[in-house]
Amino acid sequence: MNLILFGAPGAGKGTQSSLLIERMGMTQISTGDLFRAAIKNKTDLGRKAQEFMDRGELVPDLIVIGMVEEVLNKGVKDFILDGFPRTVAQAEALDELLKKMNLSIGKAVFLEVPMSELMDRLTGRRVCRSCGAVYHVKSKPPKKDGICDLCGGEVYQRQDDKAEVIETRLKNYEEFTSPLKAFYKKAGKYVEVDGNRSTEDVFSDIRQIIA
Ligand code: AP5
Repeated sequence: MNLILFGAPGAGKGTQSSLLIERMGMTQISTGDLFRAAIKNKTDLGRKAQEFMDRGELVPDLIVIGMVEEVLNKGVKDFILDGFPRTVAQAEALDELLKKMNLSIGKAVFLEVPMSELMDRLTGRRVCRSCGAVYHVKSKPPKKDGICDLCGGEVYQRQDDKAEVIETRLKNYEEFTSPLKAFYKKAGKYVEVDGNRSTEDVFSDIRQIIA
């Protein structure tokens, strides 16, 4: 089944996607990760995206949609869309793309986490620069400070995980992304999962949804 995983910044989309890849063999399409890779590789796409990301703003719809179309054209299956769509315009464009490609989305899973918890998750998050593994200074620190348990890469804080940028991201989420709940309810694909529990409990719910 193809899945949309959506929710506020820090809701746990990346964490759950990693488990779905590892345990269910699914493929993650994370627009945030794709942009970060483009920035690292200093491509045109990366240069365009970076100015928006550093400020916590959304990258313009046309750029994002074009990038997702390119990935879907490679013929992925059992995919998780993580961080896309993030506006109603993106959701409508996705519907068009999927129709054209004869693909469909089974469920749009919304991870519900209260705002008070999100700030703590985001300010405490650390990420491996090489493999993208996600840590948290309190709840999931790497065994050796600053070094990834999995690949030995450098564990760093994302530029957009600074408190002042997080505020902008959360505001943009409320304005542009939360209307997707109504969009997917209307489409009959919406499922809500309480994301404010242990990673394993959240995963167990998602696994049941896609079973
Ligand atoms: P993106 O990388 O997608 O960021 P995001 O949506 O803000 O989501 P995050 O990666 O911050 O959070 P997450 O939900 O994946 O949480 P995680 O699992 O890491 O996008 C970055 C930027 O790119 C955007 O701001 C925008 O500029 C641009 N962009 C991307 N897509 C776009 C689009 N479609 N349109 C326009 N612009 C776009 O977990 C967070 C922390 O919490 C971690 O430390 C983790 O260990 C911890 N944690 C996770 N689960 C739990 C749990 N159950 N209990 C306790 N702690 C937990």
